[in-house]
Amino acid sequence: MFSPVQQIKERLSIEEVVSSYIKLDKAGANLKAKCPFHNEKTPSFFVSPDRGTYYCFGCGASGDIFTFVEEFEGLDFKGALKLLADRAGIPLEHYNPKEESEKEKSYRIMEEATLYFCNNLTQNKEVLNYLKTRGLNEKSVKDFRIGFTPNEWRNLYEYLKPNFSDLEIERAGLIKKTGKGYYDRFRNRIMFPMADSSGRIIAFSGRIIGEGEPKYLNSPETPIFSKNVVLYGIDKAKDAIRKNNFSVLVEGQMDLILSHQAGYRNTVATSGTALSDSTVSKENVVSNLGLVRRLSPNIVLAFDADRAGANATIRAGRIALSLGMDVKVVDMPEDVDPADLIGKTGADAWREAIKNSRHIIEFLLLKVLKSCEGDMRKAGREIKEKILPFVNALQSSIEKTFFIKKISDSSGISESALQDDLKKIERELKYEKEEIEEAKETLGVTYRKDYIEQKLLGVALWQKSIAKPVIDFETIFKKLGGVYKKYEDRKEDLIFEAEVFYIDNEDLENDIREMFLNLEEENINEKLSKKMSDLRQAQNEESGKKILQEINELNKKKEDIKNNRLKR
Ligand code: UTP
Ligand code: MN
Repeated sequence: MFSPVQQIKERLSIEEVVSSYIKLDKAGANLKAKCPFHNEKTPSFFVSPDRGTYYCFGCGASGDIFTFVEEFEGLDFKGALKLLADRAGIPLEHYNPKEESEKEKSYRIMEEATLYFCNNLTQNKEVLNYLKTRGLNEKSVKDFRIGFTPNEWRNLYEYLKPNFSDLEIERAGLIKKTGKGYYDRFRNRIMFPMADSSGRIIAFSGRIIGEGEPKYLNSPETPIFSKNVVLYGIDKAKDAIRKNNFSVLVEGQMDLILSHQAGYRNTVATSGTALSDSTVSKENVVSNLGLVRRLSPNIVLAFDADRAGANATIRAGRIALSLGMDVKVVDMPEDVDPADLIGKTGADAWREAIKNSRHIIEFLLLKVLKSCEGDMRKAGREIKEKILPFVNALQSSIEKTFFIKKISDSSGISESALQDDLKKIERELKYEKEEIEEAKETLGVTYRKDYIEQKLLGVALWQKSIAKPVIDFETIFKKLGGVYKKYEDRKEDLIFEAEVFYIDNEDLENDIREMFLNLEEENINEKLSKKMSDLRQAQNEESGKKILQEINELNKKKEDIKNNRLKR
């Protein structure tokens, strides 16, 4: 039996895959780069073409082409498998597991529903016409798989019923239950399917035909859709973001599609909820922007010129700066969104608007100066309140100095006065900055830890399920302890993953040892990041000293693991 994983690895080298995402430089027999998974100035990320693996000495990220794509694109194993199989030209159909897992089924239902909505649309002249009046061409309608659902209660339900159970359709978020039975969640709406970065449909956003509330209805949280981790259009935009080395971030579905149509295929959308909503945690904003940042550090924000848009610009902008991104803002005319601009004035106006975008600090500064109309005392206050926090969020001191000078030049406030205020702000916002730092750290750590745990658990479950196991799976279960419960509902997925991944593996024993080493390292990292935050909050010198010592010990343990790994 040839596993698809083995075949894909034969066709795609680690060098080829990684270098399609980041620039690699020669370093002896290996290749090196700045790690895409953490912020660093000197490269500590190494790729070994001989072993087909990568390893980062800075943050401990490690693995093969599959883990790289998973972590870089924010996908699960199957998503990465799909993406790499497409790229290698290896069909996956033959490798479907005997039993479809719940998640697999949800994906299939979403795909069926998409086909159904699309088919509805081709038969509805009126809606097609509406889309045309909004400026969408036929190709965009097709590419984005836009659909339509009529004003009926059970059309989709009846359509899916022969092939799926009520529970399965409900779990996909497409129907709702009442005393009298099930009915369609989406009715009388233009349907926009949302995909993950491998192109699998994970949710819908439906725009009402005509007037009504809500204007856009979105899928609920489901096993395959977490509202906070999706950027609309990412599957279509990611290559263009890399190629053009910047992304454009807009608010709505219409904005996005028209921006793509106007030639800016590097556009992604927050689709209303993902970044601007203050109920969405910082961690989620960091994770969304993190994916975009790995593709390119340059981002252009183009939100509506209303209050909500301004808030989104402030929130997303500040966090993007903290992530070390270069953030520009498009100055949108009052009451016009990108969709209006492109639909009514054409692609040239959009190109012009993006070309004229300014660095977020300059953008905000101009706004403040304009609103103060020469009242310099007011301007001083506003600069301190509204601009300096952004200067504080900048990662580079050179940049900070540059913008302090700029603000001084255009406001007449002396550089030293601005520097004094900046120091105060720094203290005031220490907490906020740390919160973002911690979000960055824990995101990477929990992700990697979960990932390794799942891999190990999968191998053990798989081995347990076959007639002639080649490793001692009981020991793995024992070592993992209570972890098992955490992934109970992913059992089938994990077995499938382990099987396709390890079936031809001759050195499973060794790989498992390596995985436990990595897990230990992640545990240490987790403790470290907690200790670091304790250290920052330490009350007195003595407790600080004690924490510092603990940190040193943890670092020593980490060093041991690294040495262990190098020896092999
Ligand atoms: P807008 O209200 O600006 O809608 O919301 P729009 O994009 O201009 O809508 P059109 O052009 O009239 O069709 C911006 C985005 O916020 C999300 C949607 O993603 C929308 O595109 N939104 C808006 C919701 O999720 N729910 C809503 O009820 C409204
Ligand atoms: Mn809008």
